[in-house]
Amino acid sequence: MNKLRLLSGNAHPALARAIAGHLGVPLTSAEVARFPDGETKVRILEDVRGRDVFVIQPTCPPQNENLMELLIMIDALRRASADRVTAVIPYYGYARQDRKHEGRVPITAKLVANLITTAGANRVLTMDLHATQIQGFFDIPLDHLYGTPVLAAHIRGRMTTDVVAVAPDPGSIKLANAFAKRLGAGLALVEKRRISDSEVVAGNVVGDIEGKNVVIVDDMISTGGSMAEAIKMAKKFGANKVIAAATHAVFLDGTIERLAAASPDELVVTDTIPLRGDPARAGLTFEVLTVAPLLGEAIKRIHFNESVSSLFT
Ligand code: R5P
Repeated sequence: MNKLRLLSGNAHPALARAIAGHLGVPLTSAEVARFPDGETKVRILEDVRGRDVFVIQPTCPPQNENLMELLIMIDALRRASADRVTAVIPYYGYARQDRKHEGRVPITAKLVANLITTAGANRVLTMDLHATQIQGFFDIPLDHLYGTPVLAAHIRGRMTTDVVAVAPDPGSIKLANAFAKRLGAGLALVEKRRISDSEVVAGNVVGDIEGKNVVIVDDMISTGGSMAEAIKMAKKFGANKVIAAATHAVFLDGTIERLAAASPDELVVTDTIPLRGDPARAGLTFEVLTVAPLLGEAIKRIHFNESVSSLFT
């Protein structure tokens, strides 16, 4: 792996260090700072000519800063004659707007894909895109990993019998189905209506969850509205134990309190995004699972031109 190089922006250095530790490859030194006027300043402090470089940077909040850092780092690497640049984006921000659902709105997921490609990325490695079709917005190779293997392995240790995977809305049904298959569990769906960007109401549960051990699975928890409503519905419909599981813990202000008020038996997320707040202090039984080995393994396989799809199982 003497040509493999790992770089991190300021979005999630802890995850980058964990990936580096898993691979036994040190992080390449880089200055990623700000000019006095606030513009992003990048300088790669080691030679990367002819190297296979992976830039680790989730585009989580603050999205604009993190995205800009990623673009400028890619540009710096191309100009420093890196052989290949892979953008490792464990959480892909701006993904919610992936189609024109009404007039005169942008498709930001496509715009960001264009920006990353134009900056000079040769490949992308990402996880649990908000909509899987965003893969097609890139005209460069993209490897898409799932948090399901990591989360499901944890759930298996917590729930063994009468398990039902619940989708908190129709958009998450594929994800819940993947969980159900992996756990040999049943499948159910919460009927959800979004009132505004931050408000949702749940109407009904499709499927039998009475007396069952329920794992509610989503790609992300942002305001926590969807998850909190689903937890309440699961309890109302007689679920026994309720675990809330999501890959991306975006956790905006008020999310932890909202989830604590819904009171699941456990909340489990992964470390694709640095954690904001302290769910345990709010009284939640809480676990963060690391995706560093999964991302590290994918990076190693991409570097050696080996199959990445086998990581799905
Ligand atoms: C729905 O489209 C997604 O799968 C999530 O349920 C949603 O984005 C989570 O957002 P929030 O936590 O704000 O309800």
